[in-house]
Amino acid sequence: MDSSDFNFQFTRLSSLKSTNIYALELLRQKKGFTGTVIVTDFQTKGKGQQGKIWESEKGKNLQFSIIISPKLAVEKQFELSQFVAICLRQWLDSMSVSVVQIKWPNDILVNGKKIAGVLIENSIQGQEISHSVIGIGLNVNQVGFSIFSRLATSLKKELNKNVDMDKALTSFLELFKSNYLKYKSGQLDVVKLYLSYLFGLGTPQRYVDDKGEFLGVILGVRPNGKLQVNKNGKLKSYDIKQLQFLD
Ligand code: BTN
Repeated sequence: MDSSDFNFQFTRLSSLKSTNIYALELLRQKKGFTGTVIVTDFQTKGKGQQGKIWESEKGKNLQFSIIISPKLAVEKQFELSQFVAICLRQWLDSMSVSVVQIKWPNDILVNGKKIAGVLIENSIQGQEISHSVIGIGLNVNQVGFSIFSRLATSLKKELNKNVDMDKALTSFLELFKSNYLKYKSGQLDVVKLYLSYLFGLGTPQRYVDDKGEFLGVILGVRPNGKLQVNKNGKLKSYDIKQLQFLD
């Protein structure tokens, strides 16, 4: 794939249910292509991971979905997740935000506080991911977060200044496109980069699994996305619903 196969086409709406829902509908109508971007100021039904709601103050943050047609083997679903997290990590680095880490599977943290979340919805055809809707919520100029979100931050909080959201979106999408072209031509070591940014890798942290609380050490991530943790000297693999991080 080369640069001409990836063309940005924007739809901007002041309010909608969810940019992911909108993008999925475009795909259903065969109107979504690699580079289609839906962006909004406000979502009435913003979707988070694991069926949660994604809330965001109107006009303060970036909420958008990118459509790509990755034509990747289904087994590589998690690689896409890693890819998107790496893009956000590298872009925040370019914005001079420091100590950015990826919290498995793909939350983006700054000094332990969440600045961005990702929700990817894939369409599978046969053994291939034919299309992906990559939904990103990035806290930009919001400074107050609810008590439930005491562990949230934004670009404004980190940089102590207002950030131009259009410029931010453009520069993120440029990085995304350039990384995607590298990734598709095998020039981006997604697995290695992801591990290098992974929160908690090799350091003891408190977790909760179905047996209760324990002190564990993340050892890595399997290609299927399961997190590998050293729990009392034993190697355990967890999927997203089986493990909770204790803050
Ligand atoms: C999470 O961390 O739980 C994932 C949050 C993803 C939120 C974004 S905002 C744009 C896109 N549209 C949605 O409905 N959700 C994603």
